[in-house]
Amino acid sequence: MSHDRLPTDNPAVVTCGLPYANGDLHVGHLRTYVIGDTYTRALDRVGQQTAFVCGSDMHGTPVAVNAAEEGVSPEEFALDYHETYAETFPKFNVDFDNYGHTHDQTNTEMTQDFVSTWADQGHVIEKEIQVAWDSEEDQPLPDRYVEGTCPYCGEQARGDECDEGCQRHLEPGEIEDPVSTLTGNPAEYRTREHKFLRLSDFQEYLQDFIDRLEGTENARNQPREWIEGELQDLCITRDMDWGIDYPEQGDTEEDLVLYVWVDAPIEYVSSTKQYTERVGAEEYDWEDVWKLDGERRPSTEWDEEWTDDAGEIVHVIGRDIIQHHTVFWPTMLRAAGFSEPRAVLATGFVGIDGKALSTSRNRAVWADEYLDTGFHPDLFRYYITTGSGIEKDVDFSWDRFQERVNGELVGNLGNFCYRALLFAHRNYDGTPEADVSDEVRERITDAISDFEDAVAEYTLRDISDVAVGLADFGNGYIQRHEPWNLVDEDPEQAAQVIRDCVQVAKACAVLMQPIMPEKAAALWDQLGEAGTVADAELSDALDAPPAEFDAPEELFTEIEDEEVEDLNETLRERVAEASESDETENEETDLEPLAEDRISFEDFQDLDIRVGEITAAEEIEDSDNLMRLEVDIGVEQRQVVAGIKGLHDAADLPGTRCVLLANMEQAELFGYESNGMLLAAGEDADILTTHGDSGPGTKIR
Ligand code: 2FM
Ligand code: ZN
Repeated sequence: MSHDRLPTDNPAVVTCGLPYANGDLHVGHLRTYVIGDTYTRALDRVGQQTAFVCGSDMHGTPVAVNAAEEGVSPEEFALDYHETYAETFPKFNVDFDNYGHTHDQTNTEMTQDFVSTWADQGHVIEKEIQVAWDSEEDQPLPDRYVEGTCPYCGEQARGDECDEGCQRHLEPGEIEDPVSTLTGNPAEYRTREHKFLRLSDFQEYLQDFIDRLEGTENARNQPREWIEGELQDLCITRDMDWGIDYPEQGDTEEDLVLYVWVDAPIEYVSSTKQYTERVGAEEYDWEDVWKLDGERRPSTEWDEEWTDDAGEIVHVIGRDIIQHHTVFWPTMLRAAGFSEPRAVLATGFVGIDGKALSTSRNRAVWADEYLDTGFHPDLFRYYITTGSGIEKDVDFSWDRFQERVNGELVGNLGNFCYRALLFAHRNYDGTPEADVSDEVRERITDAISDFEDAVAEYTLRDISDVAVGLADFGNGYIQRHEPWNLVDEDPEQAAQVIRDCVQVAKACAVLMQPIMPEKAAALWDQLGEAGTVADAELSDALDAPPAEFDAPEELFTEIEDEEVEDLNETLRERVAEASESDETENEETDLEPLAEDRISFEDFQDLDIRVGEITAAEEIEDSDNLMRLEVDIGVEQRQVVAGIKGLHDAADLPGTRCVLLANMEQAELFGYESNGMLLAAGEDADILTTHGDSGPGTKIR
């Protein structure tokens, strides 16, 4: 079954993945929020009633660990960041209708209500499990307090997520070779009783849900693998103090708080509820979005036909949390009798200058840093939403930023609007009297329909192409008709051309508004339009602009080379400084302890290590860190999947001499068979090589 095309008569909600309140915001975070904001404005533009909500993710080990490092309580620490985020988002014109946080009363009550309903409906069970324990500190090690090896792909992983490899969620006790992040000691396991949400009750439901789910392809396809296999129950409690208490339902819950991934997505609902509490249910009723006809439906009575009558729930997230939003979250909603997401838009990552963004290395462009440059926030919004499709990775570089701003915004969109309005003002005091020509009417009508398609198909990039494409058309039109030559020779025709161009400029304002709301508002004002462009409808793009308006100002300013050079220099210095201090730290403290167990020479001989030469390399699109390599090892050619994406440029690798563990057991990663392991050192994956003339295939002894 498929959904009715957007817009529908149901209310919609757009949410963005909640940022952990544990550090400064950077351009990587901002991409998701700008996309959420842009899409909300676009929905609004096509007439879909929409709320845009989010909040800070206050709980869990991501916050507790960082707060402990700062020596403050998690609550104080998280609230501080929460306030900073709430102030920062509007500076990027990311205007949530409600921005709450997971630790507030609304979310605490909503979360406990969800969990109690799951329990009442029989979807929660208790199990004794082995949890990681630090014997020196005598405390349990949930989630980020433990690191080790991912049992699915063999990469280094955190306690609850394989953040560097296959991105899977890991259940307590699953991680291999667990090491405490508190003391660096190998973790022990101890038996504890925990609560689990029985995902297996929902396997069939999830399989149907995935067929209905809309949004980006990665979000619709990646979960298939997870829900086709046996669904593991989700441990919903943790041995921690910081979090929302498991609702009082017996005496075994002492000291148990809910897993952060329980109360975090529930904030989507709580935040919508808070919005209703502010504006009144007549204006926007959260229950019409999250429940069917405002009522919960017991999970056993689910009928897929209902999806048409429920609200339109759209989640915008980073692609590292697809599993949480397409498997756990729909289950949580269904188990509590709530409606299901209609679409999940999972964004790719943001790299910096061709390399992975790394906060620990300070290879990032921070939100405050961008604001300090004085560049308009709409320029950033344009750059980050329009360079590529939502699910693709985007590289942020100041050079490319300058190139796109100067070329596409200053040179094309800004140039066209300025020329058209200036000519109109000088010669006619505003819009000349004439009807819009058929050609231009048709062109704008097509643009409107492309805009509507882009909204219905969640293709944000097309939204900007529509506005920039129109400006491009306008520039060509003005050039083709040369109105400056017509003013004396054929005044009627000159007026017609300028009338058309002013109309195109007005259509640009209406269509670019979701992406660049302030710039669109400025253009609207220059046209002398009444009201706000935010309240305009798509059809207003074809209504005549005012007969009079003042001389325009340039909408965009060219970015100078020197500004970019300075910004690049600052970034380079910062990264170098961070790597230096990282190296010093490494020397002092961070080197992994030497292995205690020695191996025999025979054991070593079991390793078939060969010299190889990389002959081809390509990034694996859906993976954050994997590359597919072809390696010549003399006797044969091997396909190897290596975790070096973002650390090396694929184009530089062919011809590189490397060292390969040739008898590593076969593995399949992101659908690619890996036949060997590339040896590399350290976090930057410094590829091991040889220095003499030993050729591919030479055995390393
Ligand atoms: O991965 C993260 O950054 C989480 N804070 C996202 C939470 S999204 C949601 F579902 F709550
Ligand atoms: Zn993994």
